Amino acid sequence: PAGEAYKAWLRYARLDREFIEGNGYASWCGTVVTASAEDAALLATARRELAEGIESMLGRRPQESGNADEGSFLLIGTLGSAELQGLTDAAEREAIGDEGYILRAFEQPMRRFIAIGGNTDKGVLYGAFHLLRLLQTGQPIRDLNVVDRPASKLRMIDHWDNMDGSVERGYAGRSIFFREGDFLGDWDRVRDYARLMAAVGLNAVAINNVNVHETETRLIAPELLPSVARAASVFREYGIRLYLSVNFASPIQLGGLTTADPLDPRVREWWAERTADVYRHVPDFGGYLVKADSEFRPGPFTYGRDHADGANLLAEALRPHGGIVIWRCFVYDCQQDWRDRKTDRARAAYDHFRPLDGKFDENVILQIKNGPMDFQVREPVSPLFGGLQRTNQVLELQITQEYTGQQRHLCYLVPQWKEAIDFDTYAKGPGSTVAKAATGELFDRPLGGFAAVSNIGDDGNWTGHPLAQANFYGFGRLAWRPELSAEQIADEWVRLTFGSDPDVVATIGRMLLDSWPIYEKYTSPLGVGWMVNPNHHYGPNVDGYEYSMWGTYHYADCHGIGVDRTVRTGTGYAGQYHDAPAAMYESAESCPDELLLFFHHLPYSHVLKSGRTIIQHIYDTHFEGAEQAEGLVETWRRLSGKIDAERYESVLSRLEQQAKHAAEWRDVVNTYFCRKSGIPDAHGRQIY
Ligand code: GCU
Repeated sequence: PAGEAYKAWLRYARLDREFIEGNGYASWCGTVVTASAEDAALLATARRELAEGIESMLGRRPQESGNADEGSFLLIGTLGSAELQGLTDAAEREAIGDEGYILRAFEQPMRRFIAIGGNTDKGVLYGAFHLLRLLQTGQPIRDLNVVDRPASKLRMIDHWDNMDGSVERGYAGRSIFFREGDFLGDWDRVRDYARLMAAVGLNAVAINNVNVHETETRLIAPELLPSVARAASVFREYGIRLYLSVNFASPIQLGGLTTADPLDPRVREWWAERTADVYRHVPDFGGYLVKADSEFRPGPFTYGRDHADGANLLAEALRPHGGIVIWRCFVYDCQQDWRDRKTDRARAAYDHFRPLDGKFDENVILQIKNGPMDFQVREPVSPLFGGLQRTNQVLELQITQEYTGQQRHLCYLVPQWKEAIDFDTYAKGPGSTVAKAATGELFDRPLGGFAAVSNIGDDGNWTGHPLAQANFYGFGRLAWRPELSAEQIADEWVRLTFGSDPDVVATIGRMLLDSWPIYEKYTSPLGVGWMVNPNHHYGPNVDGYEYSMWGTYHYADCHGIGVDRTVRTGTGYAGQYHDAPAAMYESAESCPDELLLFFHHLPYSHVLKSGRTIIQHIYDTHFEGAEQAEGLVETWRRLSGKIDAERYESVLSRLEQQAKHAAEWRDVVNTYFCRKSGIPDAHGRQIY
């Protein structure tokens, strides 16, 4: 694979002459000096990345040897090395931590140089990618002075890849790791992927699906560990630690025991031994990711134990080796009776895990989906953020567009994630954002961060829809620095991916930023979710999940729609938040329009803050959304000739499909609610 789309945000397109000369890039970048006596692995990676990136952008490969005494050059190394010592002070070294870096230009009598220094070689690698990003986007570097570090320790991608090569909820081809029950062995591709990850600061990857089936259970068995080790070594070159999803019933399925009871000494011993063997093969193995007692996966409930017992069992096995357990909170009753209106799936994670706060070992992290349901187009934030105060936690997002158009529709998710990350839980008064809860800052937790379900596969452009690369990129950047705005990230990504033509930058940037609102308009109104076809979850089906066992209802009848989740008359879910957000959601007056039907069941004639009735809002947004989806096609066409044919055509054909499917959504949803409510569209538009 070689196309422009394959290179993603590491295209390193040749820069214009004026750019190079105006910024004096060539004079700084002619030589890369590596601090002496340092051959740490990641420094070699950083040097290679700089050399290749610079060669590609400036047309001349920098020399990779030289001394730091005179001339002009880039200087890379750890801050303890002879060459970089003295360039920073103790406070700065402290500020950048294990993974941060300084990037600073020095002009001295005999020499001028840009230092890229970290306390560790990993920091240096991130610094190198930062510099490359600046060059690619044409930033001045003359007075460079950056002191940076990631906001959180764990910045992780979860793959839902199965060993047969399929990817659960994958929309970009097959797995890049597995095929037909074994590793695929395309290590070059894995390395290219690791580069893309490291360039946006990601440092952890779980390579197999959280639904761990029979073959995948064997990933921790002796026969597959050598291949696991091989994969880990490729990621290691880029500072990324490998994790595996494990099956809680492994002691039975793999170990031949009769039980997987977390309190049984034989089970504990089995995990300790197996885990020690994993570390013999992969000394820096990250740890286990676990989906237990969820959607038919085995777990501690079978033995009358709770999630803390289950997680701590694995924590004990991993602790001697420095590994961690990432235990998912996606636990709910998936065999609910739709007639039962008391049970509310939205409550489940909090009801299960809040009582266990403080009972998890120090090397356990709970992984919490952004919303209480399941990656819908719009959901409130999980009340576990702010609810858990003595437990490490990680925010789980979904980059793969399961419910947001399956990479056939354009849906830039960073604005959605930003809303979750910036949400104020009020757990310790105003300013207690989800970002601070997830990083661990809010309650001073030792571990924390961000994880997201991958959207990549073996497609030539990685993500199926070329513009869906922006979501992967955006996740990495946000995990590094949650305060970046969706606009900044979009702008940066477009420049890296398509170059700096102002028209291209403005047009694609706008398309990205408009896309989630457009998608929301023609799909699910006012916080109602699940109006999709069962199983594959693509396309409109208003009652697709209405009479099912999955706890996913909108309760539309001829009078109204929505789920009453208030404390006063509903399921009480709104009461799981702290005072301020709880009060906001409890009353239909203060509940924001976009989540109104998530929290309230209301008549179609209810007047929104926008001044429109609910039914008219449904009609208006569906007509508008479908029209805007058409508009995206026209907007894209105007870029014809400014983008290479491969990517231009590929995006165009997807936008055309999207426009067609948006019309289908519009007509199905409008027709359904018109028939249910008997209320016509105030503007007399076509409803069937
Ligand atoms: C969703 C998705 C499943 C997945 C599950 C999970 O429900 O549809 O395919 O296994 O999330 O996050 O575990």
